[in-house]
Amino acid sequence: MGKFVVSEFLCEQRKELPVASTDISDKSILVVGANVGLGFEASVHLAQLRPKHLLVTARDATKCQQTIADVQQRASIDTIDARPLELGSFESVSQFVNQFEEEGFQINALVANAGIQTTRYSKTVDGWETTLQVNYLSTALLSILMLPHLLETSTPQSASRLIIVSSELHYLANKLSGADRWPSILEKLNDPDYCTSSVMSNRYNLSKMLEVMFVRELSSRLPEPTPVAVSAVNPGFCHSRLSRSTETNPFKTLGVATVKALLARTTEMGSRTLVHPVVEPGELSRHGRYLSCCEPKEESDYVISTEGREVSRRLWLETIDVLSKADPRVQRIVDEHLRSR
Ligand SMILES: NC(=O)c1ccc[n+]([C@@H]2O[C@H](COP(=O)([O-])OP(=O)(O)OC[C@H]3O[C@@H](n4cnc5c(N)ncnc54)[C@H](OP(=O)(O)O)[C@@H]3O)[C@@H](O)[C@H]2O)c1
Repeated sequence: MGKFVVSEFLCEQRKELPVASTDISDKSILVVGANVGLGFEASVHLAQLRPKHLLVTARDATKCQQTIADVQQRASIDTIDARPLELGSFESVSQFVNQFEEEGFQINALVANAGIQTTRYSKTVDGWETTLQVNYLSTALLSILMLPHLLETSTPQSASRLIIVSSELHYLANKLSGADRWPSILEKLNDPDYCTSSVMSNRYNLSKMLEVMFVRELSSRLPEPTPVAVSAVNPGFCHSRLSRSTETNPFKTLGVATVKALLARTTEMGSRTLVHPVVEPGELSRHGRYLSCCEPKEESDYVISTEGREVSRRLWLETIDVLSKADPRVQRIVDEHLRSR
């Protein structure tokens, strides 16, 4: 059953997760949002495995330089580069991909890790509610624009990997009840009148559910056997700066700090869940799946329900439409590389 079960959650939190030791000397890996938190610790793990090339992103040039220095302090790696990427802007995503192509980089794996957690309604420069764009739309845009590069490096022995960092909180996302009557699901989710404080208090969970749906939709459109193994990862509840913008009330801050002290994984432990699907064999068994503790686990009941699957199908079509307007390469990539369903 795909539900949030407290006893299961507590059990998973205490699990010791595997440390990757695979040879990745012929692999090039891209980690998005690598300056702090899980993305940083995952980058350190990957750097310690001496990949052919490690490309990391942070939101600006200063953070990029600092990230390289911080990773190099923990792992001796020369083959590391950092480039700026701001997910609050479609243009930044397109520019990142342009620069990637101009520089002739390659990737065997993309870890789409960057994300935010906020309950405040604000809009990006593109007019989308910020969590919706950063966690979902721009992550989807980057994933699709990088798909040809992942396809290029795939071999019959080893599929390339696309890892989208989701969360067990996707189980707690509100159902999109009434979506069958909304002309556009994305427009509705973006509408300030719809985004009341109660809707926004669940927005992060929803964004993580949209990622799980995206992984299912994208994976089902790739050829079989897949040249790119696509997975959604749950890192578990971990120490990080993720809740920085929700901790405005001192009592809430204290509450979160207490729960974290009792239950949270270290950032390093959580980061192992990001590294595992990048480097370990068995990628085909993880394709299209939501992974928890490095193993496939059932998605939420809503995601796999008839209603959820219909929402997911419509969201895919709407997402491709929005992203194609942001960057015309999206439609070409979909037409060329993905099957219609
Ligand atoms: N920590 C947990 O318990 C937990 C549990 C489940 C899932 N996750 C997921 O794990 C991922 C990493 O989170 P974390 O816990 O490591 O949080 P974090 O410490 O706050 O790191 C988040 C990363 O995302 C970047 N980011 C935020 N907004 C961005 C934007 N607009 N454009 C580009 N990059 C942006 C941050 O850059 P800046 O430092 O510049 O803001 C940072 O590099 C997220 O997707 C989160 O949803 C975390």
